[in-house]
Amino acid sequence: VLQPKFQPFPELKTARLLLRQLRPEDAAEIFFLRSDERVLRYLGKEPASSIKEAEDFIKIIDDNTSTNQGILWGIALLDNPDKLIGTICYWNLLMEHDRADIGFVLHPDHWRKGIMKEALFSVIDYGFGPLGLHSIEARLSAGNKSSAAVLESTGFVKEAYFKEDFFFKGQYSDTLVYSRLKK
Ligand SMILES: CC(C)(COP(=O)(O)OP(=O)(O)OC[C@H]1O[C@@H](n2cnc3c(N)ncnc32)[C@H](O)[C@@H]1OP(=O)(O)O)[C@@H](O)C(=O)NCCC(=O)NCCS
Repeated sequence: VLQPKFQPFPELKTARLLLRQLRPEDAAEIFFLRSDERVLRYLGKEPASSIKEAEDFIKIIDDNTSTNQGILWGIALLDNPDKLIGTICYWNLLMEHDRADIGFVLHPDHWRKGIMKEALFSVIDYGFGPLGLHSIEARLSAGNKSSAAVLESTGFVKEAYFKEDFFFKGQYSDTLVYSRLKK
């Protein structure tokens, strides 16, 4: 049975990135990531409409981390560690199954440079290592080619395709489920 403990917060470092805990000062960057239409295109979420919503989000994440229900890392470049360029998280932790969902978003200025692949490898290592996961699930809109490509490039395998299971803005869309097992 998974017994996550996110205190002290498990900061992670890669060749180019710092994956760190969110702070109240990240609200502007969080607001951007939760309102930019390029980022939201396949996420099936209404855009955030105020900084207050980003501040509330940071508080919710903080609560979830303190109660070990989930964890979200802010992604920053090592040479500019204060400026958030994305996030990556484990949520929907299924304790009895040692399983969690993974989610990630990146600022469009940084797309196609291998950044999320680098972040994912590190978060996967943490997931199968200290966190104790046996499997990781990722759900995405079937049209989300970049997300599918990142998952495939980090060893995730396509497991399911749900037809028209998601309703948003007057349309039903298809969902892909990927997963990766601990070797
Ligand atoms: C998905 C997302 C995080 C990808 O981040 P990224 O840093 O640009 O991805 P990377 O540069 O690490 O790319 C990893 C691999 O995916 C491929 N890839 C990335 N974007 C792609 C695209 N649009 N089309 C085809 N391949 C793509 C890269 O070529 C690379 O392949 P390789 O390892 O074989 O060279 C980014 O596009 C994003 O934030 N999208 C909006 C939010 C979102 O949809 N999140 C996922 C929710 S499920």
